[in-house]
Parts: sequence; structure tokens; C-alpha cells
Amino acid sequence: MKPASFAGVILLLMSCSALSDTLPVPTNALYPEECGGCHVAYPPKLLTGDNWQQIMNGLDRHFGSDASIDAQSKQEITAFLLRHASSDPRHRATSLRIHDTPWFIKKHHRLKPRAYTNASVKSPANCTACHAQAEQGVWHSPPHSRMRTFMDYFTNDDD
Ligand code: HEC
Ligand code: HEC
Repeated sequence: MKPASFAGVILLLMSCSALSDTLPVPTNALYPEECGGCHVAYPPKLLTGDNWQQIMNGLDRHFGSDASIDAQSKQEITAFLLRHASSDPRHRATSLRIHDTPWFIKKHHRLKPRAYTNASVKSPANCTACHAQAEQGVWHSPPHSRMRTFMDYFTNDDD
């Protein structure tokens, strides 16, 4: 292999490993505006297309809130979400909640349930309470300084 292409492979590998801790929200003007006001604009790849479709079909009864939007915006955002949705069943939940997906449960299995009921968090859907840079697409494990505040909330049966 020529040195140049070898460097290319290394770069490719580095960018692949970076994917594990970033969940970029693909660019879309409407999505963060309409869906990022009450909570972080969740990365589209955290749910499957059928789940997003159901969410978009029920915005008037949205987890206890009314999140209705005009028909044009609804159509555009639905198309955007479907284009970037996951096709992996680990990102599907009948409750339509990201935090009920097998993917989420696995990523957070070391956290005790009370980590989410703590006053500064309140809900597992409140990602930004723990992932401070989520709005910027940075989702790696909370940094050590921040993790220390979670130590109480980790299970002891470490794997
Ligand atoms: C008026 C406020 C509001 C708006 C606007 C809003 N949501 Fe929500 N959303 C909520 C509330 C409240 C919850 C439940 C949060 C909780 O359980 O802590 C929620 C939860 C969710 C969840 C489930 C997350 C989980 O793991 O429980 C998804 C997915 C979601 N919203 C997508 C959207 C999309 C897509 C849009 C834009 C079309 C949107 N939301 C706009 C209030 C809103
Ligand atoms: C109570 C705090 C808390 C909340 C709320 C929370 N997380 Fe996490 N998350 C963590 C911790 C702590 C870890 C690291 C777990 C470990 O090391 O075992 C983590 C891990 C992750 C990882 C894996 C990071 C990596 O480097 O592999 C992703 C991705 C993630 N969370 C996304 C989310 C999303 C999306 C939401 C909201 C739907 C969310 N988290 C809500 C605390 C939280």
C-alpha cells in the first residue's frame, strides 16, 4: 500500500471511531426550530422511520403536550426525519420513546433509575441535563468532572 493511501485508511478509521460519540443532527432549518424548543432536537437516527411517522401523526397529543405545527412544516420535517431515520430495530420502541429503545437501555445500563428522577434531570428524555454539549451534536459519556456527580447513581455490579 502506498503511504498516501495508508494515511487515508487511518483517517477513515479515526473518523469511524469518532462516530460512536457524536450523533450529528443533519442540517435542516426547520427541525431545530420546531422540534428543539421543548427538548433537544433529538438526532433522527435514534428512532426508526415508522416510529417517527407515528410521532409526526400525533403531534396534537405529544407525550402530554400539544406540539402541532402547520401542514407544510409537518410534511417537510417528516420527510427529513424519514430520510435520516435508523432501520435498526434496536432504535424502535412501541412507546415511541427514545429512552425505551434497546439501544438507549444498553448505553445507559449502568445508571440507576434514580439518576433520572434526580431534581436536575427529572426525565431520561432530558438528555441535555447530562450531555451538556448535545445541542452541538456531542454525545460522548459525560466528562469525568461531570461523571463524578453521577457516581452515586451508578450500579455497583460493574461489568
Ligand atoms: C410544546 C413542547 C414540545 C414540542 C414543540 C415538541 N415536543 Fe417532543 N416532547 C415534549 C415533551 C413534554 C416530551 C416528553 C418529555 C419527557 O418525558 O420528559 C417530548 C418527547 C419527545 C420524544 C420522546 C423522547 C423520549 O425518549 O421520551 C420525541 C422522540 C419527541 N418528543 C420528538 C419531537 C419532535 C419530532 C418534535 C417536532 C415535530 C417535538 N418533539 C416537538 C414536548 C414537545
Ligand atoms: C441522568 C443522566 C443522563 C441522561 C438523562 C441521558 N444520558 Fe446518555 N449517558 C449518560 C452517562 C453517565 C453515560 C455513560 C454511561 C456509562 O459510562 O456506562 C451515557 C452514555 C450515552 C451515550 C454513549 C456515549 C459513548 O461515548 O458511547 C449516548 C450516545 C447517550 N448517552 C445518548 C443519550 C440520549 C440520546 C439521551 C436522551 C434521550 C441521554 N443519553 C440521556 C447519562 C445520561
